[in-house]
Amino acid sequence: MTRSPSLRSHRLTVTGPFNPLGTRVAQGSPQGQHTLITNLVAVAQGPTVGQKPPPRAAVRQVYDRIAPHYAELYEGEGPLPHFYQTRLKLVSTLLKRQRPGIVLDVGSGPGVIGDHLRPLGFRYVGADASVGMAHECRRRGGTDTGRFCAAASGEALPFADAAFDAVTILGALEYMEAPERALAECRRVLRPGGTLVVSLLNWSSLYRLLTRVRERRNPGKDPIPAGQFTRWEAERALRRAGFAVRSVAYFDMELLPPTFAENHPKVAQHVAALFERLPGALFWWLGSAMLIEAFPF
Ligand SMILES: C[S@@+](CC[C@H](N)C(=O)[O-])C[C@H]1O[C@@H](n2cnc3c(N)ncnc32)[C@H](O)[C@@H]1O
Repeated sequence: MTRSPSLRSHRLTVTGPFNPLGTRVAQGSPQGQHTLITNLVAVAQGPTVGQKPPPRAAVRQVYDRIAPHYAELYEGEGPLPHFYQTRLKLVSTLLKRQRPGIVLDVGSGPGVIGDHLRPLGFRYVGADASVGMAHECRRRGGTDTGRFCAAASGEALPFADAAFDAVTILGALEYMEAPERALAECRRVLRPGGTLVVSLLNWSSLYRLLTRVRERRNPGKDPIPAGQFTRWEAERALRRAGFAVRSVAYFDMELLPPTFAENHPKVAQHVAALFERLPGALFWWLGSAMLIEAFPF
C-alpha cells in the first residue's frame, strides 16, 4: 500500500517519541521504574520531524530487546503508568458493552490488555511483529487456555476472515510502515457487527506540539520514531478501510509543559486525572492520545 496520498500525509510523518509521554516519567519515580524507563527511553527515544515511518526490522529489534520489561511500564505512579492505566480502563469500558467473544489485539506487546479482558469473559489473541513480544505475551498468559499469542505482522494477519468479535490496536499503528493495510486486515478478520478499538497519538494536542518543538530544537536519535495522527487523518483512514467511527475519546489530558512535568511527574499525573473527569470531546487539544471505536460497514 502506498503511503503518500492518505494516512501518511505530511502531518503523519511528523513523528513522536517511543515513550508516549517523553522522558519526564524518569524523574521522581521509584528507582526500579526510573532505571527501567531510562533504559527504555535510551534505546528508543527522541522524535524527529519529517522522518519516514520506522523500518520494520528496527521496530522488531527494539521491541524484541525491551519485551521482557515492557509490561512494567503499566505499573506504579507517574504520567506513563497513568497513560496506560487510563487507556486500559477506557478499552475495557468500551468492550464491556458487547457480548464477550474473541478479541484480536494487533501489536499486542506483552498483552497487558488481555489480563483485563479475560475476567470480562473474552478470549484473547495477541499478534505482534516482535517475536520477543509474542513470546512475552504467551509467557504472561501462563496456562490460560483462553489466551493465545502469535508472532505476526499487522499488515498480513494469519487469521481467517471474520474470525474475531473485536479487534484492538493500541499504540501500534504508529510504528507500522503500512498502517492502512493493517486497518484493512483488521476489517477482514473482524466479523460483521464487531468492534474495532484503535488508540493513536494525537498530533493536534498541545503536548505533542510542545514535544515536536522541543525535538526540532534538539533532535534525538529515535531508531523507531512513532507517527502521530490527527483525528481527521485517522477517520479518513478508517473509512477507507471500511470502518465507520462510533466514538472518539481523548485521554491523557496534558496541561503542563513537558519540562515542568518531567520535574513534577506526580503533579502532572494529578492535573491530568482532574481534567479527565470533564467531557473528553471538549479536549481534543489537551488529550495526548485518542481512542477511537469503529465498526465495519
Ligand atoms: C508501543 S508498543 C504497544 C504494545 C501494546 N499494544 C500496549 O499498548 O501495551 C507497539 C507494539 O507494536 C508492535 N508492532 C509494531 N509494528 C508492528 C507490525 N507491523 N505488526 C505487528 N505488530 C507491530 C511492536 O512490536 C510493539 O510490541
